[in-house]
Amino acid sequence: MLSCLTKTSAMKLLCLLSLSFLLYLKPVSAGGIANRYYLEKQRFLLEILHHVHEPLLNDQWRSLGEHLVSDKSQYVVYNEQMTDFFETFAHGRLVPREVYYNPQYPEHYQQSLGLYYFFYHTRDWITLWQNICWARVHVNPGMFLQALSQVLLKREDYQALVMPKIYELWPEAFHNEVTVRSARNFNFANWIRQQDTFTSQPLEVQLILPQELQPIRLEGDLRSSPKWFEAMADVHILRLKEHQRGLHRLQHLIEDIGWQSYWYYINMGIAQTENSSQELQEWWYNQLGQLLARYKLERYGQQLSYKRLTLQALTPHLLTWLNQRFQLVTPSTTKKVTQALQNLETNVADAISTRRFMLSNGSNIDLAAADNWLLGLRELFPFDLTQLQLESANEPQLLLDLRTSLRSPEFYYYAERLLRSYRRYRQVLQPTPKTSFRPTELRIDSMDITPLITYDEPVDVDLSNLLHARHFHFDGHFMWPFTLQQRQFRLQHEPFSFSLQITSNKTQSIVLRSFLTTAESGSGAVNREPFYQLDSFLTVLYEGVNRITRDSRQISGLIGDHISLTELHQYVRLAEQEEFDFPLNISTPNCGFPRRLILPRGGQGQALRLRLLIVATVYDFKARQANELNCDFSKGVSRWDELPLGYPFERYLEAEDEALHLWGDHTFWQPVEINHVDRFRHE
Ligand SMILES: *[C@@H]1O[C@H](CO)[C@@H](O)[C@H](O)[C@H]1NC(C)=O
Ligand SMILES: *[C@@H]1O[C@H](CO)[C@@H](O)[C@H](O)[C@H]1NC(C)=O
Ligand SMILES: *[C@@H]1O[C@H](CO)[C@@H](O)[C@H](O)[C@H]1NC(C)=O
Ligand SMILES: *[C@@H]1O[C@H](CO)[C@@H](O)[C@H](O)[C@H]1NC(C)=O
Repeated sequence: MLSCLTKTSAMKLLCLLSLSFLLYLKPVSAGGIANRYYLEKQRFLLEILHHVHEPLLNDQWRSLGEHLVSDKSQYVVYNEQMTDFFETFAHGRLVPREVYYNPQYPEHYQQSLGLYYFFYHTRDWITLWQNICWARVHVNPGMFLQALSQVLLKREDYQALVMPKIYELWPEAFHNEVTVRSARNFNFANWIRQQDTFTSQPLEVQLILPQELQPIRLEGDLRSSPKWFEAMADVHILRLKEHQRGLHRLQHLIEDIGWQSYWYYINMGIAQTENSSQELQEWWYNQLGQLLARYKLERYGQQLSYKRLTLQALTPHLLTWLNQRFQLVTPSTTKKVTQALQNLETNVADAISTRRFMLSNGSNIDLAAADNWLLGLRELFPFDLTQLQLESANEPQLLLDLRTSLRSPEFYYYAERLLRSYRRYRQVLQPTPKTSFRPTELRIDSMDITPLITYDEPVDVDLSNLLHARHFHFDGHFMWPFTLQQRQFRLQHEPFSFSLQITSNKTQSIVLRSFLTTAESGSGAVNREPFYQLDSFLTVLYEGVNRITRDSRQISGLIGDHISLTELHQYVRLAEQEEFDFPLNISTPNCGFPRRLILPRGGQGQALRLRLLIVATVYDFKARQANELNCDFSKGVSRWDELPLGYPFERYLEAEDEALHLWGDHTFWQPVEINHVDRFRHE
């Protein structure tokens, strides 16, 4: 049995190498033992997570999970949180299974931390296995999922396992309650009977033959391979009709499952990161700024007000897994959040006017001296949401649940206020960058761009976890006889590319950043307009005229589509039966942003007019590659240079900053148009 949790990094590396070596062995050449070993874990993971909100039906895992491993020698570290957790359990005070769980609620957070360490610190797989089974049976499902997801994100030796996506494990938080109810009430046996009685009414649920799921192109290409039909041979694919969405004009963005889950994953990744750094804070604020800018561009495209957001509420039509309804934010939450923001704004205003700040350890520092402004920044601006504890978080509210926050219009209002303070602080206290970032002897002459086209793309969304668990167990065996997929339409765009003509009088390396913004120009407009960073990349210029071409498919940090829960299960089964070589690279990184959402929905009839801004900066040879795309922040975050992430919009820009950073030969403004076409939406 491999046990890869060793503390020295050299050992870890060796262990990883041996693990990946075994996993990549061809079954023929080595009897497939290692492959089976991986598949066994992968199948276990899928079975234990299947219908995680319902009692576990699998006898084998149930009996394995009778006891939590309490022998301290089985853990690398046995810390205080574990002791507390064990005591809470022994006194019967764990959060009950049938309670809405939210890590923003102090009691829930404390317990999930204890459980997390009971997973994270295990010495070997056997212990972890037993603890996972135990927790699946005895612990609140929300807490169980939180702790398990964290462990799979944080423990390098298990990162190869494919964790189903949160919107499939917990579909309730991502789909309208009408959809959820239809899926929950779906009765397979009745449906088959109805099929036989030649009913003339079109059924809400239809069998898809020949089998297909949209989109065909997944990362890893497992849907377009002939193996797919083999894997799916025993599965009936049922399609639930899409229910009419509401008339809210932003739904296609804020209710998109990729948009929603992005926020969940980046915050899960940041939570419980050991030595969370200054850089992580900068990264988090940059992502928040990106989400806000992207949201505002969508509002702009839909002709809604966007310059200054107001506090709006939107009635949520969402259920929790307990059938409770998500509510509007409670007055006590609004009060708490508003209070916290007001305090922050006051503290920032004081720091700016006095140039002094009192650190939490009592030192009063001069923010203008050395790098002290960073200490102030660090303490003033919160970012790890598990540190944000609210007593009212034990009720389901869109704003306070990481899976649903981005559905809540209040979120963007608060984000705007928070970012305003953040950028003000940086503008005043961050030292002015040396002018050397501005490249010399270079001029961006012109730009060509291919048409920008958006459309609504049909897609099937796996709702199988909403079906009743009894559909999946026969004579004590776990089976997957059918899958329920909802046909939805989502925002998509055609790939596009642009090319720049740049004249340079010398050979030099530069970093190019491109931003999408509104068509509103005019002096002083910059700070009121959203700037969404599309791309940044490094390139070399030679003396003379250079043509630089960039394709939207080259943009980093973006992800395509992930294999669905049902297909994942079927592929694992196929691999187990046939020793089919299960590819390990089929998972899309959890902390990637959905590639299809980078452009706002175009105009129909009349094009949506926007502008692109290109900014060139000197390359300082400080590029770094980290693994934040996989929510792994242990090596920091990727960056091209030492300029702040989001540069030049990481701060509020005064008139003179504008002239320096946004105008001149190293920048280029290009008007663009986005058109939305009807491609698939004919009934
Ligand atoms: C996965 O790995 C296989 C074999 O190495 C390769 O052919 C395929 O292109 C890879 N797929 C992705 C999405 O990286
Ligand atoms: C408080 O923290 C700062 C920054 O970490 C440190 O420089 C300072 O010495 C500390 N002051 C006290 C009183 O511990
Ligand atoms: C390159 O050098 C020539 C001659 O000195 C000058 O006229 C031109 O403006 C320079 N071009 C750039 C892009 O700096
Ligand atoms: C995290 O902390 C450890 C120990 O203090 C240190 O060796 C490591 O370099 C740190 N990692 C980062 C990314 O700062």
